[in-house]
Amino acid sequence: MKTDRTQVGIVGAGPAGLMLAHLLRLEGIESVVLETRSREYVEHRVRAGVLEQGTVDLMNETGLGDRLRREGLVHRGIEIRWDGRAKRIPLSDLAGGRAITIYGQQEVVKDLIAARLAGDGPIHFEVGSVALSGIDTNAPIVRYRHEGTDRELRCDVIAGCDGFHGVSREAIPATGRTEFHHEYPFAWLGILAAVPPSTEELIYAHHERGFALHSLRSPEVSRLYIQVDPDEDIERWPDARIWDELRIRLGLEGWHLNDGPVIEKGIAAMRSFVVEPMQHGRLFLAGDAAHIVPATGAKGLNLAVADVRVLARALAAWYATGDAGRLDRYTAECLRRVWRAQDFSATMSAMLHAYPGHDEFTQRRQRAQLDYLATSEAAARSLAENYVGLPFD
Ligand code: APR
Ligand code: PHB
Repeated sequence: MKTDRTQVGIVGAGPAGLMLAHLLRLEGIESVVLETRSREYVEHRVRAGVLEQGTVDLMNETGLGDRLRREGLVHRGIEIRWDGRAKRIPLSDLAGGRAITIYGQQEVVKDLIAARLAGDGPIHFEVGSVALSGIDTNAPIVRYRHEGTDRELRCDVIAGCDGFHGVSREAIPATGRTEFHHEYPFAWLGILAAVPPSTEELIYAHHERGFALHSLRSPEVSRLYIQVDPDEDIERWPDARIWDELRIRLGLEGWHLNDGPVIEKGIAAMRSFVVEPMQHGRLFLAGDAAHIVPATGAKGLNLAVADVRVLARALAAWYATGDAGRLDRYTAECLRRVWRAQDFSATMSAMLHAYPGHDEFTQRRQRAQLDYLATSEAAARSLAENYVGLPFD
């Protein structure tokens, strides 16, 4: 058994763990990042791609903005389609000039890994048998296996950034946490396609056959989604069927959807999840380890970044002064934003998806809501301020 020591042990090299390591380094705090997957895998995992203004600002302020400024696509509006109608929501006009930027999550991950390696910070990929202990003491330990050797990482604090299926959350005794789960009666089938987007701005479509979304990644690559049943089998969706369905659901008179080769496809469940509190003793959970939102509001990555921003500041204050006040308030500070995002994502999801059974009461309510959005500036402004992301205090 080999023993190492660091200040903060970070479990997971997704956006949460990597951004935390980056922010801590800027504060002069040491960390070690442990990741079960390979570097290749985490850099190419296709996930979401909408960065809120606050996420973009943080990347710029902390020296991560070079490629983002070159390749990120700044969007100042989104389009909503339903019943053969289209309505643009002018996000920036309604939300004080704030905008969203389209930049794939794996690009954020690549930039963060490059920054980590340039700064000589330890990051170990392909680790196994990760286990946390001593989180109730002031010397917690992460045990893991790497390159055939059992290792022990002694820390002051552990950051559990290992996603929804990680081990960190389970290290909190069941009596010390409450979990809130909500399953939605639909999933998304997503494709990445080598075809120029047929739109300049994201299109969210409500259709009786189900929701559809036209997003993008670059001037050459489109990202599109359709609502499917949660237990849908991807084998039933050859590419041609996906394009046909997208064409119907996104359809608008005078508008044409370009199709092209599908590079990647998969089905993702829609769920909401929150664990409270997000901390126990010397363990702090961040990102998907602590909460999941349905993808409709595009909030998952942004919440993860918001969590670690709070955590890095709290740790910096604690190391500088010994005052644990901000660390103690970590959960409360994060959960305000998390529950706001849960509400926004659930509301957007309920407005835009087709519910099984096609209950007519629900359908008429959805139309009333979409019509309100199209005609009331107050309704559109509410969507806009949530979509671009609430400012940090
Ligand atoms: N030990 C070490 N690493 C682990 C372990 C473990 N036991 N279990 C999982 N991991 C790794 C995963 O392989 C993954 O790379 O932890 C990482 C968690 O990263 P993400 O799942 O991307 O989660 P997070 O960093 O919280 O990012 C926020 O919100 O909506 C989503 O798509 C968005 O993935 C993004 C997430
Ligand atoms: C994406 O581009 O992957 C994307 C965009 C908007 C969403 C969800 C995902 O609401």
